[in-house]
Amino acid sequence: MHPMITIASRAARAAGNIQRRYLEHLDSLTISSKGDNDFVSEVDKASEQVIIDTLRKAYPDHAILAEESGVSAGNEFQWIIDPLDGTTNYLHGIPQFAVSIALRRKGVLEHGVVFDPVRDEMFSASRGSGAMLNDRRLRVTNRKTLKGAIIGTGIPFRDRRHLDTYLAMLRDMITADTAGIRRPGSAALDFAWVAAGRFDGFWELGLKPWDFAAGALLVKEAGGVVSDLAGGDDYFNTGNTVAGNIRLHTLMLQTLKPHLNEQLKA
Ligand code: IPD
Ligand code: CA
Ligand code: CA
Repeated sequence: MHPMITIASRAARAAGNIQRRYLEHLDSLTISSKGDNDFVSEVDKASEQVIIDTLRKAYPDHAILAEESGVSAGNEFQWIIDPLDGTTNYLHGIPQFAVSIALRRKGVLEHGVVFDPVRDEMFSASRGSGAMLNDRRLRVTNRKTLKGAIIGTGIPFRDRRHLDTYLAMLRDMITADTAGIRRPGSAALDFAWVAAGRFDGFWELGLKPWDFAAGALLVKEAGGVVSDLAGGDDYFNTGNTVAGNIRLHTLMLQTLKPHLNEQLKA
């Protein structure tokens, strides 16, 4: 295991411990609003702090991009952190949330971990070395048709600009005879579950880099493909993502294509 994965896993576990502990006391949490349907709790903040402290101790010169505290400058290594992905679930006591930590070097994803503290599942990947769930190697599914596929997604709930387009996409995914669409509520875990072969594919519009940086590497290292809506590489800029095994990814792009307007071309 790469030393950076060891450190990132340590940081993710420390944050996960905080999340499990506070889960028993949700009623007394201090919560503030960042915008429409966008909440941040003391758990998000405490989780981010322990992650940053752990990473900084090992790598004082690295740069950081973290959801709650923003950007801090450093050398060519940059940690991308979502301390608690699935805050809405968390605040409602729904046990589907995760910690996501990725490392990018000169813009290339090198390492990533997504930790599910409820199931004690540590998903990890290093570029060129494959993806793991705890000690087990991961592989995307080899399903070749949308018929029978389980597809994860995220339903827009903050930014509703593309809601009608999204609903048309959803309709086409459903009528492609998929076995079902799932909206669990943590994009980081959705990607990890594609890597683990639990989902055949996943798509969501308007994500942020910290939602998918680690997850995208997991999917690729598990043999899958991640792209923007047009099949290109621009998802770090647009936040529009499609992931799946190679065949399913192609079929999903074909299904989404008729709905791409000027703003959603990537
Ligand atoms: C959210 C989750 C959710 C996705 C949202 C994200 P947060 O992250 O990943 O599944 O649909 O777009 O913002 O706010 O809970 O860290
Ligand atoms: Ca998130
Ligand atoms: Ca978050």
